[in-house]
Amino acid sequence: MPIIAPSLLAANFLELGNACNMLNESEAEWFHLDVMDGSFVPNISFGLPIIEQIRKATTKVCDVHLMIVSPEKYITAFKKAGADILTVHFEACPELASTLAQIKAEGMKAGVAINPNTDAEVLAPFIKEIDLVCVMSVYPGFGGQKFIETTYEKVVALKDIITKAGASTLIEIDGGVDANNAAALTKAGADVLVAGTTVFKAADPIAMIASLKQS
Ligand code: DX5
Ligand code: ZN
Repeated sequence: MPIIAPSLLAANFLELGNACNMLNESEAEWFHLDVMDGSFVPNISFGLPIIEQIRKATTKVCDVHLMIVSPEKYITAFKKAGADILTVHFEACPELASTLAQIKAEGMKAGVAINPNTDAEVLAPFIKEIDLVCVMSVYPGFGGQKFIETTYEKVVALKDIITKAGASTLIEIDGGVDANNAAALTKAGADVLVAGTTVFKAADPIAMIASLKQS
């Protein structure tokens, strides 16, 4: 069964406390928190003060996805805000090995996200140092986009890299995950499913989380 990581980007920000309470009661293990800077991606979401508040509202894992340039400048700040997992983008990290080492030195799990146009193979040299690969199944920047079907092949390729290296890296899928593709993603090798719109726009979000969990 996959880990379910609902993305709060799709929540009603005026009622974030209620959204946290709902997730706390649900089978979701992780909170996925999307930070956008208007530079790495063409959108701006939320940052440190919001994550600090969410941290106080849950004991579940805070999985912070940084869609920002120069993420290495903010590692300590996100640790202080309450991140358990800190994911940086491969495309934003010219010194990836050192950035991963810094994240781990702060006591967080280190994640690396790859855009739809980035091959899984680029991560092979780093794979043993990566706790989580976030495979973007939409172009990052917005919730509610259509799932890119070539993601399945990328998951299979990535799984092969992880297995050959004897690594224990988790594979997370981010973007357009829904009740129709969740089972196929898990079968292809996904360990963690992020879902924003699918969870928060569902008539019954707790039931939707439970059903994704069964995939
Ligand atoms: C997109 C974000 C995603 C987004 C997913 O840039 O990284 O986490 O919130 O939203 P849905 O599930 O609506 O595609
Ligand atoms: Zn995300």
